[in-house]
Amino acid sequence: MIKISLERAARNPAASLSLPELPFEADGMEIARRTISNWPGYAPSPIRDLSDLAAELDLGKIWFKDESVRFGLGSFKPLGGAFAVSRALSRHLAGETGSEAPDLLSSDMKARVASLTVTAATDGNHGRSVAWGARMFGCRCVIFVCSSVSQQRKDAIASYGAEIRQVDGSFDDAVRMADQTARKEGWFVIPDTSDGETVIAPRDVTQGYMLMVDEALEQLKGEPPVTHIFLQAGVGGMASASAARFWQAYGDKRPVTTIVEPEKCACWYESLVAGKPVAVTGDIDSAMAGLSCGEVSLIAWPVLETGADFMVTLNDDAVPVMMRYLAGRGGDDRPVIAGETGISGLAGLVAAAQDEALRKEMGLGPDSHVFVVNSEGDTDPDAYKTIVGKSASEVLGQ
Ligand SMILES: Cc1ncc(COP(=O)(O)O)c(C=O)c1O
Repeated sequence: MIKISLERAARNPAASLSLPELPFEADGMEIARRTISNWPGYAPSPIRDLSDLAAELDLGKIWFKDESVRFGLGSFKPLGGAFAVSRALSRHLAGETGSEAPDLLSSDMKARVASLTVTAATDGNHGRSVAWGARMFGCRCVIFVCSSVSQQRKDAIASYGAEIRQVDGSFDDAVRMADQTARKEGWFVIPDTSDGETVIAPRDVTQGYMLMVDEALEQLKGEPPVTHIFLQAGVGGMASASAARFWQAYGDKRPVTTIVEPEKCACWYESLVAGKPVAVTGDIDSAMAGLSCGEVSLIAWPVLETGADFMVTLNDDAVPVMMRYLAGRGGDDRPVIAGETGISGLAGLVAAAQDEALRKEMGLGPDSHVFVVNSEGDTDPDAYKTIVGKSASEVLGQ
């Protein structure tokens, strides 16, 4: 039996079952589905049934949406960053050519975007997604990486032809640097977070992420409704997209929603307790690298302000235990490759389900059908091998 401890847990005082006005376009989800499903190599990511773990925790079901295989990039991120690149370029080309829906994959359009530059800040996966999208559509790409990004992650971004610029500072510093440089150079900036001023690209990113839950709703047709969701949050884009898509589908019967964060950088925890966005500063580098940010995205705020019921935080020690567990015995009797950030939502569920008081407060039990996202696989293969003791292909017996 694995054992994961919680650092902190709280109930969001502003949680509500009434749907707020969502900061998305009415047809945003539909555009994302149509666009992304047209890209070469698209397939819905699998949803795994973690039956052994559910039995150990005395829960009904744990549905684990496995993003480790998404487009060969190892995370859910192409749904957001690359999609937002496609929309930024499409809007520009629509203005230039007068065509309402230019086909970015056509050679004519590729020639037109060759002189354009897209840029983004990243702590790893978002930059990779933007670089991958830029290569698919044929434009130039510059990615600003914060200090904590490993060499392997930088190499992965550069392998798509992107120029890497190192920022001596945190993810939040890199976001500001990308924004300032884009304004100066006339580039398209694709942030996965919103400061309240830049909203269109982060909204596109979030609408792209919604496809993940959209696929899951299709995959779970015929199953009892999902009762609980545990969502890891950095700036909150993935969590807000997922919570919003469930909300759209289930209305006021939406699942009990829990935000999971590293204790070191729990900006959602602090903000939801305070009832307003507050920044966390100091040493915010966690082993859950994708969650190492101190400021919430203001486009995610209106969704999670009322759409999150609980917040939990974890110590970095939770990560290796869970990664090894899933490498040994994962879903549908097969191992699941889950990276340090990928595993965090599930680690939050295990910790909450093992805490008797919280389990009761959240209503977790044998009738619970829980949805969790494996948001990345071995996106840093060296770190994966060090933690698990085997490479992903060895784990999968390939
Ligand atoms: C693998 C992974 N999971 C989850 C997240 C969190 O997403 P968000 O920053 O939208 O909350 C990230 C962000 O980089 C990530 O890389």
